[in-house]
Amino acid sequence: DVIDVRPLTGKGLFTYDPGFVSTAACDSSITFIDGGKGVLLHGGYPIDELAEKSDYMEVCFLLLNGELPTPEQKETFVKTVKSHTMVHEQLNHFYNGFRRDAHPMAIMCGVVGALSSFYHDSLDIDNEHHREVCAYRLIAKMPTIAAMCFKYSNGQPFMYPRNDLSYAGNFLQMMFGTPCEEYQVNPVLEKAMDRIFVLHADHEQNASTSTVRLAGSSGANPFACIASGIAALWGPAHGGANEAVLTMLEEIGDESNIEEFVAKAKDPNDPFRLMGFGHRVYRNFDPRAKVMKKACDEVLAELGIENDPLLRIAKRLEQIALEDEYFVERKLYPNVDFYSGIILKAIGIPTNMFTVIFALSRTIGWISHWSEFHSSPNKIGRPRQLYTGPVQRKYPG
Ligand code: ACO
Repeated sequence: DVIDVRPLTGKGLFTYDPGFVSTAACDSSITFIDGGKGVLLHGGYPIDELAEKSDYMEVCFLLLNGELPTPEQKETFVKTVKSHTMVHEQLNHFYNGFRRDAHPMAIMCGVVGALSSFYHDSLDIDNEHHREVCAYRLIAKMPTIAAMCFKYSNGQPFMYPRNDLSYAGNFLQMMFGTPCEEYQVNPVLEKAMDRIFVLHADHEQNASTSTVRLAGSSGANPFACIASGIAALWGPAHGGANEAVLTMLEEIGDESNIEEFVAKAKDPNDPFRLMGFGHRVYRNFDPRAKVMKKACDEVLAELGIENDPLLRIAKRLEQIALEDEYFVERKLYPNVDFYSGIILKAIGIPTNMFTVIFALSRTIGWISHWSEFHSSPNKIGRPRQLYTGPVQRKYPG
């Protein structure tokens, strides 16, 4: 709908577009999506090629700099990130303030936001070097903070980062290692973890990235802006879907119950939706879901659990939905979250940590967009509204 509000704004027309279905809020050179064709490119490179040939550190460099690194640039980049992997010792005490059974996303919001109290130089947002340092700190510390959430919930001691390991290998060691014995990283799981990081790294102006950009547009501290992104990601319509998919597959429980759940999802009077299906932008296969499905098969084969009952339910559910008129008509395909949960579960990651891993991976996208916003002349984001309340009236009495 286009509404003539020239008398109110003194400027041109403005559009009423709930959910920003067809409104671009910015321009960006980081990521391109063609939802109709199911294409996702970072810096011009297709996501499936990046997942196959590249690794998360390279993709981080690409998102921040617009180009893949040379071998020398990559070495320097990785070394710099590794120099920031530890968190301030004082931060360890924060965790004690949270309930042991708190959702780890709640802890992430608090702890990442609190990083803003440690790095006062990060407010110098017009300084390119300071923006870069913020990115290094965040990329490096997110795995440490995420693994600490897990260790806190199960009462084990926090593990220090090990900089002799890869980014993914170090994360696995902080999650599953103990001070009692040296953790041996399984290379297949390490590769799968890295792939999950790559596939979630950026996705242009989704709800969480737009939130980070909007919060950043006021000049707020970048760590606080990332915390706002974590909050926006948490919901089941966005990053929380990977957790919701697994819960749904467990509720389905058996292939014989799939039809019943599909019928519920189609019922206009039932709010239930098939989790991991549908996407605002993709009206075709989510290219990340294809890679994720392949990675899922590889991981389960490596672990000798190809017959995992949840995977069987997932595959059958996908097949049924893809042949169902309701889903076909609405162009509802599996999205990135449909298979990621099964891989994460196979790796041994508890369900309530799934969205944390999404947040960890997406941090590079958030900070790249935040940095892009501040690297050129910009305006505070200020959406308008359509007022639907009472007209001006007299105060009673
Ligand atoms: N199951 C059943 N029906 C669905 C689903 C679903 N998963 N998704 C959309 N629909 C239906 C809607 O009911 C609606 O039907 P109608 O036209 O008869 O009213 C139609 O498809 C269009 O749906 P909208 O809600 O308008 O689509 P929108 O673009 O706003 O929503 C969203 C996209 C939020 C992803 C939605 O598809 C959904 O809720 N999916 C399940 C949650 C999920 O997997 N989220 C992860 C997204 S990917 C990510 O964030 C990484």
